[in-house]
Amino acid sequence: MARIAVIPGDGIGIEVTREVIRILQVLDAEMQLGLSLEAFDFGAERFLRTGVGLPPGQMDVFRTEFDAILLGAMGDPRVPDNAHAREILLGLRFGLDLYVNFRPCSPLAERLSPLKGKGPQEIDMTIFRENTEGIYGAIGGSFKRGTPDEVAIAEEIHTRKGVERIIRAAFKWASAHGKRHVALGDKSNAIAAHGLWLRTFREVAAEYPQIEARHYYVDALALQMVTRPESLQVIVTTNLFGDILTDLGAALSGGLGVAPSANLNPDSTPLFEPVHGSAPELTGKGLANPAAMVLSAALMLEHFGQAGAARRLSMAVQQTVEEGQCTRDVGGTLSTTEAADAILDRMLQGLWRTGT
Ligand code: NAD
Ligand code: IPM
Ligand code: MN
Repeated sequence: MARIAVIPGDGIGIEVTREVIRILQVLDAEMQLGLSLEAFDFGAERFLRTGVGLPPGQMDVFRTEFDAILLGAMGDPRVPDNAHAREILLGLRFGLDLYVNFRPCSPLAERLSPLKGKGPQEIDMTIFRENTEGIYGAIGGSFKRGTPDEVAIAEEIHTRKGVERIIRAAFKWASAHGKRHVALGDKSNAIAAHGLWLRTFREVAAEYPQIEARHYYVDALALQMVTRPESLQVIVTTNLFGDILTDLGAALSGGLGVAPSANLNPDSTPLFEPVHGSAPELTGKGLANPAAMVLSAALMLEHFGQAGAARRLSMAVQQTVEEGQCTRDVGGTLSTTEAADAILDRMLQGLWRTGT
Protein backbone atom coordinates (compact mmCIF):
# COMPACT_ATOMS: atom_id res chain seq x y z
CA MET A 1 0.00 0.00 0.00
CA ALA A 2 1.37 3.42 -0.96
CA ARG A 3 -0.09 6.37 0.92
CA ILE A 4 -0.09 9.49 -1.23
CA ALA A 5 -0.88 13.03 -0.03
CA VAL A 6 -2.48 14.96 -2.87
CA ILE A 7 -2.23 18.77 -2.74
CA PRO A 8 -4.04 20.31 -5.75
CA GLY A 9 -3.01 23.86 -4.71
CA ASP A 10 -4.20 26.76 -6.85
CA GLY A 11 -5.39 27.68 -10.35
CA ILE A 12 -4.77 25.04 -12.99
CA GLY A 13 -3.05 22.97 -10.29
CA ILE A 14 -6.55 22.08 -9.11
CA GLU A 15 -7.71 21.30 -12.67
CA VAL A 16 -4.84 18.99 -13.62
CA THR A 17 -4.88 17.27 -10.22
CA ARG A 18 -8.56 16.39 -10.65
CA GLU A 19 -7.65 14.58 -13.87
CA VAL A 20 -4.60 12.75 -12.56
CA ILE A 21 -6.57 11.42 -9.57
CA ARG A 22 -9.16 9.99 -11.94
CA ILE A 23 -6.45 8.38 -14.08
CA LEU A 24 -4.55 6.96 -11.08
CA GLN A 25 -7.74 5.50 -9.62
CA VAL A 26 -8.46 3.60 -12.84
CA LEU A 27 -4.84 2.45 -13.14
CA ASP A 28 -4.89 1.33 -9.51
CA ALA A 29 -8.09 -0.67 -10.02
CA GLU A 30 -6.76 -2.29 -13.21
CA MET A 31 -3.28 -3.11 -11.96
CA GLN A 32 -3.88 -3.50 -8.22
CA LEU A 33 -1.17 -1.02 -7.31
CA GLY A 34 -2.43 -0.47 -3.77
CA LEU A 35 -2.50 3.33 -4.03
CA SER A 36 -4.26 5.30 -1.31
CA LEU A 37 -4.87 8.94 -2.25
CA GLU A 38 -5.70 11.54 0.42
CA ALA A 39 -6.44 15.15 -0.51
CA PHE A 40 -5.19 18.24 1.38
CA ASP A 41 -6.56 21.71 0.67
CA PHE A 42 -3.35 23.66 1.27
CA GLY A 43 -3.22 26.65 -1.06
CA ALA A 44 -4.23 30.29 -1.48
CA GLU A 45 -7.89 29.82 -0.56
CA ARG A 46 -7.12 28.31 2.83
CA PHE A 47 -4.22 30.73 3.38
CA LEU A 48 -6.47 33.73 2.78
CA ARG A 49 -9.10 32.30 5.10
CA THR A 50 -6.83 31.20 7.96
CA GLY A 51 -3.48 32.91 7.44
CA VAL A 52 -1.84 29.49 7.49
CA GLY A 53 -0.09 27.83 4.55
CA LEU A 54 1.07 24.55 6.03
CA PRO A 55 -0.42 23.77 9.48
CA PRO A 56 2.02 23.10 12.32
CA GLY A 57 2.97 19.44 12.58
CA GLN A 58 1.92 18.70 9.00
CA MET A 59 5.49 18.29 7.81
CA ASP A 60 6.07 15.51 10.36
CA VAL A 61 2.86 13.79 9.29
CA PHE A 62 4.04 13.80 5.67
CA ARG A 63 7.51 12.67 6.69
CA THR A 64 6.42 9.77 8.86
CA GLU A 65 3.07 8.63 7.50
CA PHE A 66 3.14 9.17 3.73
CA ASP A 67 5.05 7.54 0.89
CA ALA A 68 4.75 10.47 -1.51
CA ILE A 69 3.21 13.89 -2.09
CA LEU A 70 1.62 14.79 -5.42
CA LEU A 71 1.25 18.55 -5.85
CA GLY A 72 -0.54 20.54 -8.58
CA ALA A 73 0.75 24.13 -8.42
CA MET A 74 0.87 27.06 -6.03
CA GLY A 75 0.25 30.68 -7.00
CA ASP A 76 -2.72 33.04 -6.83
CA PRO A 77 -3.02 36.69 -7.84
CA ARG A 78 -4.77 37.35 -4.51
CA VAL A 79 -1.47 36.56 -2.75
CA PRO A 80 0.81 38.84 -4.79
CA ASP A 81 3.98 38.16 -2.78
CA ASN A 82 3.47 34.39 -3.12
CA ALA A 83 3.87 34.00 0.68
CA HIS A 84 1.69 30.88 0.85
CA ALA A 85 3.60 29.19 -1.99
CA ARG A 86 6.88 29.81 -0.21
CA GLU A 87 5.44 28.40 2.99
CA ILE A 88 3.91 25.32 1.36
CA LEU A 89 6.02 24.41 -1.67
CA LEU A 90 9.43 25.73 -0.59
CA GLY A 91 8.51 24.73 2.98
CA LEU A 92 8.05 21.12 1.89
CA ARG A 93 11.20 21.09 -0.24
CA PHE A 94 13.29 22.51 2.62
CA GLY A 95 11.48 20.83 5.53
CA LEU A 96 11.60 17.38 3.98
CA ASP A 97 15.15 18.14 2.79
CA LEU A 98 14.32 17.16 -0.81
CA TYR A 99 17.68 18.15 -2.21
CA VAL A 100 17.27 16.72 -5.71
CA ASN A 101 14.92 18.46 -8.09
CA PHE A 102 14.91 15.97 -10.96
CA ARG A 103 13.63 17.46 -14.21
CA PRO A 104 13.90 15.44 -17.43
CA CYS A 105 13.63 17.38 -20.73
CA SER A 106 12.87 15.65 -24.03
CA PRO A 107 10.11 16.23 -26.59
CA LEU A 108 7.43 13.52 -26.54
CA ALA A 109 7.02 13.87 -30.30
CA GLU A 110 9.16 15.24 -33.14
CA ARG A 111 6.80 18.13 -33.83
CA LEU A 112 6.98 19.45 -30.26
CA SER A 113 10.59 20.51 -30.63
CA PRO A 114 10.97 24.22 -31.43
CA LEU A 115 14.47 23.60 -32.85
CA LYS A 116 14.83 23.00 -36.58
CA GLY A 117 16.06 19.46 -37.33
CA LYS A 118 16.28 18.45 -33.67
CA GLY A 119 13.84 16.04 -32.08
CA PRO A 120 13.67 13.51 -29.23
CA GLN A 121 16.96 11.90 -30.37
CA GLU A 122 18.90 15.14 -30.14
CA ILE A 123 17.08 16.71 -27.19
CA ASP A 124 17.24 14.36 -24.24
CA MET A 125 18.68 15.92 -21.11
CA THR A 126 18.04 15.45 -17.43
CA ILE A 127 18.54 18.40 -15.13
CA PHE A 128 19.54 17.94 -11.49
CA ARG A 129 18.58 21.19 -9.80
CA GLU A 130 19.82 21.77 -6.26
CA ASN A 131 16.64 22.22 -4.24
CA THR A 132 17.40 23.22 -0.65
CA GLU A 133 19.83 26.14 -0.69
CA GLY A 134 21.26 28.77 -3.08
CA ILE A 135 19.45 32.07 -3.20
CA TYR A 136 16.21 30.40 -2.10
CA GLY A 137 17.41 30.32 1.53
CA ALA A 138 15.59 33.59 2.29
CA ILE A 139 18.66 35.14 3.91
CA GLY A 140 18.23 38.87 3.55
CA GLY A 141 15.38 41.29 3.38
CA SER A 142 14.66 44.91 2.74
CA PHE A 143 15.50 48.07 4.64
CA LYS A 144 13.85 51.49 4.30
CA ARG A 145 11.22 49.76 2.22
CA GLY A 146 9.18 51.96 -0.05
CA THR A 147 11.55 54.93 0.26
CA PRO A 148 14.09 56.22 -2.31
CA ASP A 149 16.81 54.81 -0.02
CA GLU A 150 15.46 51.28 -0.06
CA VAL A 151 18.05 48.50 0.20
CA ALA A 152 17.17 44.89 -0.69
CA ILE A 153 19.57 42.07 0.04
CA ALA A 154 19.36 38.39 -0.88
CA GLU A 155 22.27 36.14 0.05
CA GLU A 156 23.14 32.84 -1.59
CA ILE A 157 23.98 29.85 0.59
CA HIS A 158 26.11 27.03 -0.78
CA THR A 159 27.30 24.40 1.66
CA ARG A 160 29.89 21.74 0.91
CA LYS A 161 27.39 19.09 2.02
CA GLY A 162 24.57 20.53 -0.09
CA VAL A 163 26.68 20.99 -3.20
CA GLU A 164 28.31 17.59 -2.91
CA ARG A 165 25.10 15.62 -2.47
CA ILE A 166 23.39 17.04 -5.57
CA ILE A 167 26.52 16.59 -7.71
CA ARG A 168 26.87 13.05 -6.41
CA ALA A 169 23.20 12.36 -7.22
CA ALA A 170 23.75 13.53 -10.81
CA PHE A 171 26.82 11.32 -11.32
CA LYS A 172 25.19 8.33 -9.66
CA TRP A 173 22.12 8.64 -11.87
CA ALA A 174 24.24 9.19 -14.99
CA SER A 175 26.27 6.09 -14.19
CA ALA A 176 23.17 3.95 -13.53
CA HIS A 177 21.56 5.15 -16.79
CA GLY A 178 24.54 4.64 -19.12
CA LYS A 179 25.15 8.35 -19.70
CA ARG A 180 28.59 9.38 -20.93
CA HIS A 181 28.88 12.91 -19.56
CA VAL A 182 27.64 15.27 -16.87
CA ALA A 183 27.68 19.06 -17.24
CA LEU A 184 27.96 21.54 -14.39
CA GLY A 185 26.43 25.00 -14.81
CA ASP A 186 27.76 27.65 -12.41
CA LYS A 187 28.94 31.24 -12.49
CA SER A 188 32.30 30.83 -10.78
CA ASN A 189 33.87 33.40 -13.12
CA ALA A 190 31.78 36.17 -11.58
CA ILE A 191 30.60 34.77 -8.24
CA ALA A 192 33.61 33.58 -6.28
CA ALA A 193 31.49 31.44 -3.95
CA HIS A 194 30.54 29.27 -6.94
CA GLY A 195 34.14 28.02 -6.86
CA LEU A 196 32.81 25.55 -4.30
CA TRP A 197 30.65 24.02 -7.03
CA LEU A 198 33.51 23.68 -9.48
CA ARG A 199 35.96 22.20 -6.94
CA THR A 200 33.38 19.74 -5.62
CA PHE A 201 32.34 18.80 -9.16
CA ARG A 202 35.94 17.92 -10.05
CA GLU A 203 36.38 15.88 -6.86
CA VAL A 204 33.20 13.87 -7.31
CA ALA A 205 33.90 13.42 -11.03
CA ALA A 206 37.24 11.77 -10.17
CA GLU A 207 35.24 8.91 -8.62
CA TYR A 208 33.50 8.33 -11.98
CA PRO A 209 36.35 7.97 -14.50
CA GLN A 210 33.99 6.47 -17.10
CA ILE A 211 31.89 9.68 -17.13
CA GLU A 212 33.21 12.86 -18.68
CA ALA A 213 32.78 15.94 -16.49
CA ARG A 214 32.16 19.12 -18.46
CA HIS A 215 32.14 22.54 -16.89
CA TYR A 216 30.13 25.45 -18.32
CA TYR A 217 29.42 28.91 -17.06
CA VAL A 218 25.65 28.94 -16.87
CA ASP A 219 25.17 31.60 -19.55
CA ALA A 220 27.15 29.50 -22.03
CA LEU A 221 25.23 26.42 -20.90
CA ALA A 222 21.92 28.10 -21.75
CA LEU A 223 23.34 28.84 -25.21
CA GLN A 224 24.51 25.24 -25.59
CA MET A 225 21.08 23.88 -24.63
CA VAL A 226 19.61 25.67 -27.63
CA THR A 227 22.44 25.45 -30.18
CA ARG A 228 23.78 21.94 -29.47
CA PRO A 229 21.30 20.13 -27.22
CA GLU A 230 22.63 16.78 -28.49
CA SER A 231 25.88 17.49 -26.61
CA LEU A 232 24.08 17.50 -23.24
CA GLN A 233 22.86 14.45 -21.31
CA VAL A 234 22.89 15.30 -17.59
CA ILE A 235 23.09 18.80 -16.13
CA VAL A 236 23.71 19.68 -12.48
CA THR A 237 23.27 23.22 -11.25
CA THR A 238 22.24 25.58 -8.46
CA ASN A 239 18.68 26.17 -7.28
CA LEU A 240 18.05 29.42 -9.18
CA PHE A 241 19.97 28.47 -12.33
CA GLY A 242 18.10 25.15 -12.27
CA ASP A 243 14.78 26.95 -12.02
CA ILE A 244 15.60 28.99 -15.12
CA LEU A 245 17.24 26.22 -17.14
CA THR A 246 14.34 23.83 -16.50
CA ASP A 247 11.83 26.26 -17.98
CA LEU A 248 14.20 26.52 -20.97
CA GLY A 249 14.40 22.72 -21.02
CA ALA A 250 10.60 22.58 -20.92
CA ALA A 251 10.47 24.96 -23.89
CA LEU A 252 12.76 22.58 -25.83
CA SER A 253 10.41 19.69 -24.97
CA GLY A 254 7.12 21.19 -26.09
CA GLY A 255 6.40 23.58 -23.25
CA LEU A 256 5.43 23.61 -19.62
CA GLY A 257 2.30 21.60 -20.38
CA VAL A 258 4.42 18.45 -20.74
CA ALA A 259 7.29 18.97 -18.22
CA PRO A 260 7.27 16.79 -15.08
CA SER A 261 9.47 16.88 -11.98
CA ALA A 262 10.39 14.97 -8.84
CA ASN A 263 11.74 16.41 -5.58
CA LEU A 264 13.78 13.68 -3.93
CA ASN A 265 15.87 12.61 -0.99
CA PRO A 266 16.34 8.85 -0.56
CA ASP A 267 15.68 9.24 3.20
CA SER A 268 12.54 11.37 3.00
CA THR A 269 9.02 11.54 1.55
CA PRO A 270 9.32 12.55 -2.12
CA LEU A 271 7.20 15.25 -3.77
CA PHE A 272 6.10 15.00 -7.42
CA GLU A 273 4.77 18.02 -9.33
CA PRO A 274 4.71 19.51 -12.80
CA VAL A 275 7.35 22.16 -13.56
CA HIS A 276 4.58 24.62 -14.42
CA GLY A 277 2.76 26.97 -12.10
CA SER A 278 -0.88 27.84 -11.55
CA ALA A 279 -1.25 29.74 -14.87
CA PRO A 280 -3.98 32.17 -13.70
CA GLU A 281 -4.75 33.22 -17.28
CA LEU A 282 -5.72 29.64 -18.19
CA THR A 283 -7.64 28.91 -15.02
CA GLY A 284 -11.29 27.96 -15.39
CA LYS A 285 -11.07 27.74 -19.19
CA GLY A 286 -10.34 24.04 -19.63
CA LEU A 287 -7.13 24.93 -21.48
CA ALA A 288 -4.54 23.45 -19.09
CA ASN A 289 -2.60 20.48 -20.37
CA PRO A 290 -2.85 17.62 -17.85
CA ALA A 291 0.19 15.83 -19.37
CA ALA A 292 2.89 17.34 -17.12
CA MET A 293 0.90 16.28 -14.07
CA VAL A 294 0.29 12.78 -15.43
CA LEU A 295 3.98 12.40 -16.27
CA SER A 296 4.84 13.56 -12.74
CA ALA A 297 2.57 10.79 -11.42
CA ALA A 298 4.45 8.37 -13.71
CA LEU A 299 7.72 9.46 -12.05
CA MET A 300 6.05 8.72 -8.70
CA LEU A 301 5.02 5.21 -9.78
CA GLU A 302 8.54 4.56 -11.05
CA HIS A 303 9.84 5.70 -7.67
CA PHE A 304 7.53 3.13 -6.01
CA GLY A 305 9.14 0.42 -8.14
CA GLN A 306 6.02 0.20 -10.37
CA ALA A 307 7.95 0.60 -13.62
CA GLY A 308 5.28 -1.20 -15.67
CA ALA A 309 2.50 1.10 -14.49
CA ALA A 310 4.71 4.16 -14.96
CA ARG A 311 5.39 3.11 -18.52
CA ARG A 312 1.70 2.58 -19.25
CA LEU A 313 1.04 6.15 -18.15
CA SER A 314 3.90 7.79 -20.02
CA MET A 315 3.25 5.76 -23.18
CA ALA A 316 -0.40 6.79 -23.06
CA VAL A 317 0.57 10.46 -22.79
CA GLN A 318 3.06 10.10 -25.63
CA GLN A 319 0.52 8.38 -27.91
CA THR A 320 -2.14 11.02 -27.35
CA VAL A 321 0.35 13.77 -28.15
CA GLU A 322 1.58 11.96 -31.28
CA GLU A 323 -2.01 11.51 -32.45
CA GLY A 324 -2.93 15.13 -31.71
CA GLN A 325 -5.44 13.99 -29.08
CA CYS A 326 -4.23 16.71 -26.73
CA THR A 327 -4.65 20.30 -25.61
CA ARG A 328 -3.87 23.39 -27.73
CA ASP A 329 -0.46 24.16 -26.26
CA VAL A 330 0.84 20.96 -27.88
CA GLY A 331 -1.10 21.23 -31.12
CA GLY A 332 -4.46 19.65 -30.32
CA THR A 333 -7.95 21.01 -29.80
CA LEU A 334 -9.06 19.13 -26.69
CA SER A 335 -10.01 20.53 -23.30
CA THR A 336 -8.22 19.49 -20.10
CA THR A 337 -10.81 16.81 -19.33
CA GLU A 338 -11.00 15.54 -22.92
CA ALA A 339 -7.21 15.26 -23.06
CA ALA A 340 -7.24 13.31 -19.79
CA ASP A 341 -10.00 11.07 -21.23
CA ALA A 342 -7.78 10.40 -24.25
CA ILE A 343 -4.86 9.48 -21.97
CA LEU A 344 -7.16 7.20 -19.97
CA ASP A 345 -8.37 5.57 -23.18
CA ARG A 346 -4.87 4.89 -24.49
CA MET A 347 -3.80 3.65 -21.05
CA LEU A 348 -6.65 1.13 -20.94
CA GLN A 349 -5.98 0.00 -24.52
CA GLY A 350 -2.34 -0.56 -23.53
CA LEU A 351 -3.43 -2.60 -20.52
CA TRP A 352 -5.80 -4.79 -22.56
CA ARG A 353 -3.26 -5.31 -25.33
CA THR A 354 -0.66 -6.64 -22.94
CA GLY A 355 -3.20 -8.46 -20.79
CA THR A 356 -1.92 -6.91 -17.58
P1 NAD B 1 3.21 29.26 -15.22
O1 NAD B 1 4.02 28.02 -15.26
O2 NAD B 1 1.96 29.20 -14.42
O3 NAD B 1 2.85 29.70 -16.72
C1 NAD B 1 3.85 30.02 -17.69
C2 NAD B 1 3.30 29.84 -19.10
O4 NAD B 1 3.09 28.46 -19.38
C3 NAD B 1 1.95 30.52 -19.32
O5 NAD B 1 1.91 30.98 -20.64
C4 NAD B 1 0.97 29.38 -19.14
O6 NAD B 1 -0.23 29.58 -19.83
C5 NAD B 1 1.74 28.19 -19.69
N1 NAD B 1 1.36 26.92 -19.01
C6 NAD B 1 1.72 26.56 -17.76
N2 NAD B 1 1.20 25.38 -17.45
C7 NAD B 1 0.50 24.97 -18.52
C8 NAD B 1 -0.28 23.80 -18.80
N3 NAD B 1 -0.42 22.80 -17.92
N4 NAD B 1 -0.88 23.72 -20.01
C9 NAD B 1 -0.74 24.69 -20.91
N5 NAD B 1 -0.01 25.81 -20.72
C10 NAD B 1 0.60 25.95 -19.53
O7 NAD B 1 4.17 30.42 -14.69
P2 NAD B 1 3.86 31.95 -14.28
O8 NAD B 1 2.78 32.49 -15.15
O9 NAD B 1 5.16 32.61 -14.22
O10 NAD B 1 3.32 31.84 -12.79
C11 NAD B 1 1.94 31.77 -12.41
C12 NAD B 1 1.89 31.47 -10.90
O11 NAD B 1 2.37 30.14 -10.67
C13 NAD B 1 2.79 32.38 -10.05
O12 NAD B 1 2.11 32.62 -8.85
C14 NAD B 1 4.02 31.55 -9.81
O13 NAD B 1 4.70 31.91 -8.64
C15 NAD B 1 3.44 30.16 -9.70
N6 NAD B 1 4.35 29.05 -10.01
C16 NAD B 1 4.22 27.93 -9.23
C17 NAD B 1 4.96 26.81 -9.51
C18 NAD B 1 4.76 25.59 -8.67
O14 NAD B 1 3.83 25.51 -7.90
N7 NAD B 1 5.60 24.59 -8.79
C19 NAD B 1 5.83 26.81 -10.61
C20 NAD B 1 5.94 27.97 -11.39
C21 NAD B 1 5.18 29.09 -11.09
C1 IPM C 1 9.36 25.87 -9.78
C2 IPM C 1 8.74 27.20 -9.38
C3 IPM C 1 9.06 27.59 -7.95
C4 IPM C 1 10.56 27.73 -7.83
C5 IPM C 1 8.35 28.86 -7.45
C6 IPM C 1 6.87 28.75 -7.53
C7 IPM C 1 8.74 29.19 -6.03
O1 IPM C 1 9.12 28.18 -10.28
O2 IPM C 1 9.06 24.85 -9.11
O3 IPM C 1 10.09 25.81 -10.75
O4 IPM C 1 11.12 28.80 -8.10
O5 IPM C 1 11.20 26.73 -7.48
MN1 MN D 1 10.18 27.43 -12.03
